[in-house]
Amino acid sequence: MPLRINPSILAADFANLERELNRIRTADMVHVDIMDNHFVPNLTFGLPMVTRLVQVSPVPLDVHLMIDDPERWAEGYALAGAASVTFSAEATDHPVDVARALRAAGARAGIALKPGTPAEPYLDQLDEYDMVLVMTVEPGFGGQSFRTDVLPKITRLAEAVHGRGLDTWLQVDGGITPETIVPARAAGADTFVAGSSVFASDDPARAIAELRAAIAV
Ligand code: DX5
Ligand code: ZN
Repeated sequence: MPLRINPSILAADFANLERELNRIRTADMVHVDIMDNHFVPNLTFGLPMVTRLVQVSPVPLDVHLMIDDPERWAEGYALAGAASVTFSAEATDHPVDVARALRAAGARAGIALKPGTPAEPYLDQLDEYDMVLVMTVEPGFGGQSFRTDVLPKITRLAEAVHGRGLDTWLQVDGGITPETIVPARAAGADTFVAGSSVFASDDPARAIAELRAAIAV
């Protein structure tokens, strides 16, 4: 089973993003956190930034929307060239419609669940999503501690995905280090976002290699 390491540029040097992207060229994708100061109490970047990052990034973009009204905004990120666009389940009453619009626009469609959001309402629609992002911190800020109480939800999702023979990726995001990636992998995650543990390192490529080594069988 392919395992993916997607560093989050939330922890990168925003004055030198092209250089930062080249420091993580051994990653599978680059995770880009879009925050609107409404869905979460923090503000980052928007569509113009993603449009430009797509042009210079050596790896595909994994866009994580923490914004209200994904019905209005999500498709634009797919059209801008993001390989994957994940929206927040709690921000919409029509998640399947958003996912279908993303796929139609040529992106992988992901749905993100906050730590307190159960997986059950989404289990019978898993085939509509290319990825489920299980947040292992409360969304909004990097540098928080991994929440082990979320692990059973990952296991439940992994059982549902494999039981139905689907190829839905299971992503974890928040507090991933060479230590916490181990229980996340054991629970069934296959795609790992790491912000501070990669970009706080003086050698991000080595940090990526350490994460891979921690989950190599
Ligand atoms: C948090 C973001 C994460 C964040 C992870 O809301 O969605 O992607 O960048 O950062 P770390 O790895 O530092 O917890
Ligand atoms: Zn994220």
